[in-house]
Amino acid sequence: MHSDLNAFLADLDRAKLLARVAEPVSPDLEIAAVTDRACKSNGGGPALLFDRPTGFSIPVVTNLYGSVERMCLALGVRRLDDLAAEIDELMTPQMPEGVMDALKMLPMVGRLRDLMPKTVKDAPCQEVVRRDATLDELPILKCWPEDGGRFITFPLVFTKHPESAERNIGTYRMQVYDGRSTGMHWQRHKGGAQHHRVAERLGKRLDVAVALGPEPVLPYCATAPMPEGLDELLLAGFLSHRRIEMVKCVTVNLEVPASSQIVLEGYVDPGERRREGPFGDHTGLYSQPDDFPVFHLTCITQRKNPIYLTTVVGIPPMEDYYLGLASERIFLPMIRKTLPEIVDMHFPAEGIFHNLVLVSIDKRYPGHARKIMNAFWGLGQLMFSKTIVVVDKEVDVQDLSQVAWIVGTHMDPLRDIQMTKGPVDDLDDAADLPAYGGKMGIDATRKWASEGYTRTWPTRVSTTEAAGRKAADIWSRLR
Ligand SMILES: Cc1cc2nc3c(=O)[nH]c(=O)nc-3n(C[C@H](O)[C@H](O)[C@H](O)COP(=O)(O)O)c2cc1C
Repeated sequence: MHSDLNAFLADLDRAKLLARVAEPVSPDLEIAAVTDRACKSNGGGPALLFDRPTGFSIPVVTNLYGSVERMCLALGVRRLDDLAAEIDELMTPQMPEGVMDALKMLPMVGRLRDLMPKTVKDAPCQEVVRRDATLDELPILKCWPEDGGRFITFPLVFTKHPESAERNIGTYRMQVYDGRSTGMHWQRHKGGAQHHRVAERLGKRLDVAVALGPEPVLPYCATAPMPEGLDELLLAGFLSHRRIEMVKCVTVNLEVPASSQIVLEGYVDPGERRREGPFGDHTGLYSQPDDFPVFHLTCITQRKNPIYLTTVVGIPPMEDYYLGLASERIFLPMIRKTLPEIVDMHFPAEGIFHNLVLVSIDKRYPGHARKIMNAFWGLGQLMFSKTIVVVDKEVDVQDLSQVAWIVGTHMDPLRDIQMTKGPVDDLDDAADLPAYGGKMGIDATRKWASEGYTRTWPTRVSTTEAAGRKAADIWSRLR
């Protein structure tokens, strides 16, 4: 597992998964336009290293996680499903039956020890400490022409709950207002917003630290939908097989990953709001301007020669699809602990995580599909699921065309649609009200007599085993 961004980039370079852009390219629209081309090319394109962003001496990296292969490399696995298997094993400990059995479990004990972060004194991210630094020194992108300005798009925002001191890390974009302040776009349902809500109730300033470009496992973890109160660093420690090294900030009471390229220290005041946006969002549409809290910079700490890691969102597929895909695979075993009947689930790129969720289940009782819909609408960030399609276990939810076929043939619109209302994602502009709107579930499972279907359900067309063998033989000779 890579200890920092530099080591990861060197590996990607060796594996020819990194494209270096040596000519000057402007952070004003041009870097985003090149990145968009890469994301739309076959399989997500290469990671991009812009050596000479016009007007800046700090190189820019984009599309770092934008392919299945690079997402796997960042998480140190061959396949994302390998992680699911490991997590499942960790969550289903067997009682050892003898000494040999107990010895076999030792590696798992090591994994648990790795979960806890550790504090170090010297950190690469504090090689240079400047309290008078400004954001104007960083090659922060303006991504799309109608964006309200330049946005830090891949920050890891660290806060502590003002009462319980629980840590939260989230990726929330930050619009640059001037050299010393930015917007803080934590949406109302997110961990950072909750910490700020409590701080406002107490009339207190909330310390905030923003890590840019730490070791490659961490930016993924900041986007992961960890349940409230569960530290994202536990996930990072588990995934990276070692304890994450943290260092105390210089001007605020927080710790940040020692491996970061750049750290912005500062605070958010209670009561302060400022217009944020518009921003070309991962819906592929511009998000409307709205009022959000303001981040005030107190200090920048950084490596001597830092790299600026950022991402570009827009019309899917973009890099964030692969971050979401990792969460899909990693969280499936955890969801199965509550809903063991789930066989698989998928968030297709076009659905931008919450707009379209496909789930296959081992159907056991009448109304089972609707139970799954209701469970999702009540489970963490799955509450945002706007359209949930539930199919039987033999349907491959990773195959969109198969799901479309099954929905068309298995669904009666008057009978199989479940409508409801509740919280929706802040980015849902189709809802009449911000963050509150409609959701739809489609039960595309086979219907049972106990569900009121008294006709005979038709069986799938398929040939006999013997004819299939013969066909395979003839076909291999024809080609
Ligand atoms: C590239 C990218 C940008 C994101 N920007 C935001 C954002 O501006 N505001 C927000 O609330 N969530 C944003 N998210 C989603 C959150 O990072 C995600 O919901 C995360 O789980 C939040 O963590 P939390 O539950 O600890 O708050 C973004 C995700 C990605 C991948």
